[in-house]
Amino acid sequence: MTMRRAILAAGVAAVCALSYAGQMPPAATSFIPYSDARPILEAFGNEAPEGLGRKSAEELEAQWPQWVAGRDAAIRARLEQGDWDTLVHWMMFGTSFTKRVRLTPENIQNLEPPATAAASPGATAAVEMLRGRMEDLVDALSAKAPTQNERILFARRMLTKKGFQLEQAAGREAAREFLRGQLARMLREQAGYAETLDAARRLGNATEEFAARSTLYRERGLSLDTSLSPNLAVERSLAELQRRGLLARGSVRRVAIVGPGLDFTDKQSGFDFYPQQSVQPFAVMDALLRLGLANEPQLRVTTFDISPRVNDHLTRAVNRARRGASYVVQLPFDAGVPWTAEMRAYWKNFGARIGTPTAAAALPAALKHLSIRAVRIRAGEVAQLRVRDLNVVLARPRLTANEKFDLIIATNILVYYDSFEQSLALANVEHMLRPGGFFLCNNALLELPSSRVRSAGYLTTQYSERGDDGDHVVWYQRQKD
Ligand SMILES: C[S@@+](CC[C@H](N)C(=O)[O-])C[C@H]1O[C@@H](n2cnc3c(N)ncnc32)[C@H](O)[C@@H]1O
Repeated sequence: MTMRRAILAAGVAAVCALSYAGQMPPAATSFIPYSDARPILEAFGNEAPEGLGRKSAEELEAQWPQWVAGRDAAIRARLEQGDWDTLVHWMMFGTSFTKRVRLTPENIQNLEPPATAAASPGATAAVEMLRGRMEDLVDALSAKAPTQNERILFARRMLTKKGFQLEQAAGREAAREFLRGQLARMLREQAGYAETLDAARRLGNATEEFAARSTLYRERGLSLDTSLSPNLAVERSLAELQRRGLLARGSVRRVAIVGPGLDFTDKQSGFDFYPQQSVQPFAVMDALLRLGLANEPQLRVTTFDISPRVNDHLTRAVNRARRGASYVVQLPFDAGVPWTAEMRAYWKNFGARIGTPTAAAALPAALKHLSIRAVRIRAGEVAQLRVRDLNVVLARPRLTANEKFDLIIATNILVYYDSFEQSLALANVEHMLRPGGFFLCNNALLELPSSRVRSAGYLTTQYSERGDDGDHVVWYQRQKD
């Protein structure tokens, strides 16, 4: 067992029993100082990332500011790749630009990109569907009629920025060619993730498997995807922390949501028939109020995200709320999925403490089998949100002791980073948490000896009876200094 594995095994031993696999100006944040990174660099030794291994302490200290700034730029650059992934998913599943049948997770297995823009007699039904969808998407993006469809506007901006002249036939063909390339890359990557997961399962050790899953997307484009399910896992963890006396009624006042995400077209369901939305900040508020862990007048929620799209979306919502406008969250629910009773109940009751039911978006013909409800979240709840730009891997907000957080939540974000970057992120989280405060995360993170954040337990939540449809949420607690 290597040192890192030993640390992991000690740190998340509890997980062994698991059974399945208006933005802040830059001056208000600072990069992780070398003094906080040093113990992490020491623990990783020669396994530190390129450019940092095999260096003396003096060399590392001198090099640190430059390395951090360069790494920050490199991480932010991964957002573009994530946007292309989103566009490809939208092409496969979306219903707002085409009337053609949606692809399903089943017919994506073994899918290949269509070879040409023209129909090909030997192509499988799925490839033919995809070819038609690509045609429709490019047609919609190059249509002259004005549109308010924010997804079309976004996709058009992306392709235009890349230099494709969609008003010309040659530009459209080049855009199709480019999309085919993106699709091929994404399918290759997906096959790689499936292999890694298989290999992790074959380890036959739940802790090792969880660890392997926890860095699965470390080289993937940064995706903004979000859905309702992880919020059930967070709510159940909060309830369990309360039941065990680790969180007291009314004790949560300052909450941070790292990586709240933006629902453009979810990778599994791909719904695009309602405006883009963020869910997690509201889900967490709802849960804390429902459980009595927070009292409404004192609750302050801050979101920290690296994505300008997420931050702009939330900033606009907050600005509108300050002028009295509520925020509507749409909650599509596929009744055909064998959801657990808890997931069904969660969907049904979502938002009861922060809003009221309202008319849901009309279901498109292709999605008539869905159930849907919508919640209108009160302007007062939205207006108290603070929206901040932050790369949590490399930076932290400047906070006084009184401004530190009681609770920080980060689901489906650290899986995009390797163990070294996750350790830096944990050091930043440590800086942001008050002593005794909790960090809830659905990844197994290394707990290096220098860290004052330690796992206090975990909870597994199953969303449906489909294989692998659930989350382990680990409760990391900030120890006293
Ligand atoms: C896949 S989404 C998850 C959204 C939501 N937490 C959920 O579980 O549904 C990941 C989110 O984390 C953000 N993110 C990724 N890397 C980040 C980083 N280094 N610092 C802050 N936010 C980050 C992305 O922009 C995105 O909003």
